[in-house]
Amino acid sequence: MANEKQFRLKTRFVATRGVKEYRATIPEWVRAEDVVLEIGCEWGTTTVLIAERCKRVIGTDISLECIERARRTHPGIRFEVLDAFDVRAALALGEDFSKVYIDMSGLSGYRSLLDVISLVTMYATVLRPEAVIIKSGALKHFAAHCVAWRPGG
Ligand SMILES: C[S@@+](CC[C@H](N)C(=O)[O-])C[C@H]1O[C@@H](n2cnc3c(N)ncnc32)[C@H](O)[C@@H]1O
Repeated sequence: MANEKQFRLKTRFVATRGVKEYRATIPEWVRAEDVVLEIGCEWGTTTVLIAERCKRVIGTDISLECIERARRTHPGIRFEVLDAFDVRAALALGEDFSKVYIDMSGLSGYRSLLDVISLVTMYATVLRPEAVIIKSGALKHFAAHCVAWRPGG
């Protein structure tokens, strides 16, 4: 049976294809008052671009090697090791995130579409950000072909 609460989420999902589009969302979606979580930050290249426009950003990645390099290269930004599927660990970062950016390897093919939908829904439900911006060509394609049906519309 449908749970009505699941339809009350206000989070917007923004699907982009490729890193150029992923980064192009920053001027449109990141505001000065935002606290942003980036998941899959690698060496922090996008995290820096986000940092220039928001109050605070935390860059996270499953790879300790990436995080250590990001910390060395960008000492003014907070970077933490985080497995995207461990949403309790994301909560434990202790921030009230208003935007979540996700760019994770392994999520690019169409076969991973269900994983992508589960992941963005999980972050929307638990962290309740205003928006989740994700690099996923599969989700972008799917979203572009969805129609929210309205009677007579
Ligand atoms: C394409 S790179 C990210 C590039 C970066 N966002 C940028 O714009 O420069 C993908 C990253 O996803 C990370 N990753 C893969 N699986 C992950 C997971 N389960 N949780 C967090 N990060 C993950 C990889 O370690 C890798 O650094």
